Parts: sequence; structure tokens; C-alpha cells
Amino acid sequence: MTGPDTLEWLRSRRSVRSFTTEPVARDVLERVLEGAITAPSSTNRQPWRFAVVRAAAMRKKIVDAVAAKTGEMKAIIAKSHHAEDFGNYGDFFHEPLASAQVIVVPQYREYPDLIANLIASGGGDPAQFSTASAMQSELVSTSTAIMTLLLQAHAEGLGACMMAGPMVARREIHALLGIEDPWRMVGAIALGHPEGSAPVRGRKPLDRVVTWIEEENAK
Ligand SMILES: Cc1cc2nc3c(=O)[nH]c(=O)nc-3n(C[C@H](O)[C@H](O)[C@H](O)COP(=O)(O)O)c2cc1C
Repeated sequence: MTGPDTLEWLRSRRSVRSFTTEPVARDVLERVLEGAITAPSSTNRQPWRFAVVRAAAMRKKIVDAVAAKTGEMKAIIAKSHHAEDFGNYGDFFHEPLASAQVIVVPQYREYPDLIANLIASGGGDPAQFSTASAMQSELVSTSTAIMTLLLQAHAEGLGACMMAGPMVARREIHALLGIEDPWRMVGAIALGHPEGSAPVRGRKPLDRVVTWIEEENAK
């Protein structure tokens, strides 16, 4: 693929929130996960894991847990004067999961900050240096794997939606999937064969998000 073709292809990815009942073949899913683990990670630690929930009964438990916690949250917010701001937003917390044939729950874990420990062992104060932990490098590494997972899913013709919404039921999902310390879920990904076409979401133009430091404006 050429550069311009790749860009067009990247632009054709959408967050898909509605899926057909067609199952996703196991070998396709394995490629999607193989795609995920091609991601770069801080010191190549690969601080990620993925629960791939195909079993319908477990998917339903997850959806129910997220819907229940969202409902609780909505009831509380309904009493505030910001109730209208929230509106139906809570539906985005669980709806894409409802028809998903697969729910992937990415997880990350933190590691001791090696460089900070080396600084300390040399008698230095790690607080005087900004190291990888200042950018939550394990979480960032896992986010890169989530992105490559989304791209491989797109390449396979699958639809996918990365979701923070399921975090409302983090405790329940951890218990359902046996996720224990030091592992922590990083949202959930709804996966399946797309139903209908997903809306195109605009992007801020490049000149609002990029600062070019060229020879003529470098100070
Ligand atoms: C960290 C993160 C959390 C998100 N959480 C949700 C979510 O809970 N529910 C949902 O429907 N979409 C969620 N999305 C998808 C975004 O709404 C979507 O990426 C954005 O609107 C741009 O649309 P596009 O992906 O189709 O280009 C999330 C995306 C990211 C990266």
C-alpha cells in the first residue's frame, strides 16, 4: 500500500457500535490479537494481556453489569441540575457491547520504575528526574496495542469500538474475568461483523493540533 492509500484506509476506520449475529471465526480473532501484540512498548516489556470473551453467557454478564452500574449512575445524576447534560450519554457505556459477538478486555500492569531505582541506587533523588512512569508508560504501551488491534480488526473487515464506558463496572468485570492485582482493565472493545454503516466523525484540522518547528521559527 502506498502512503496516500494507507491514509485513505486509516480514514475509513470507524467506531462500530452495532453488529450482526454472525460469529467471528477463532482464526480471524487470533490474527486480530497477533496484530495487537505487534505494538511497540516501553523497553519492550509488553505489559498487556487480553481477555477475549466469546462465550455468550459471559458476554451477557458483562453487558448486564455495565448496564446496571450505568443505571445507578444515571439515577444519581438525574437528581442533579446537570441531568440534561448527561442525557442518553450513558447508553454509549454499554450499547455497543450488547450486539458484539466478542468483547475484548485489554489489561495492563505497572512495573517498578527501573531508571528511578538506578538513580536512587546511585544516591540520587528520582523525583528530580522525569522518567517513564511520569507518562504511565505501561498504560500508554497497552493503548498502542489497542490501536493496532483496532486496525487489524478493520483490515479483517470487522467492526470494533474501543470503550471507556465499561469502566463503570470495573470491579464487577474484574471479578467475572478473574482479573487480579497488578492487572487492571483498560476499558473494553466491542467486536463483530458490522451492521449498517457507522457515522463519520470529524477530526480537528491539522493546523489546530500540530505545531511545526522548522528552521525559520526555531528559537
Ligand atoms: C479511550 C476511548 C474511549 C471510548 N469510549 C467509548 C465508549 O464508552 N462508548 C462508545 O460508544 N465509544 C467510545 N469511544 C469511541 C469514540 O467515541 C470514537 O472513537 C470517536 O467518537 C471518533 O469516532 P471514530 O472512531 O468512528 O472515528 C471511545 C474511544 C476511545 C479512544
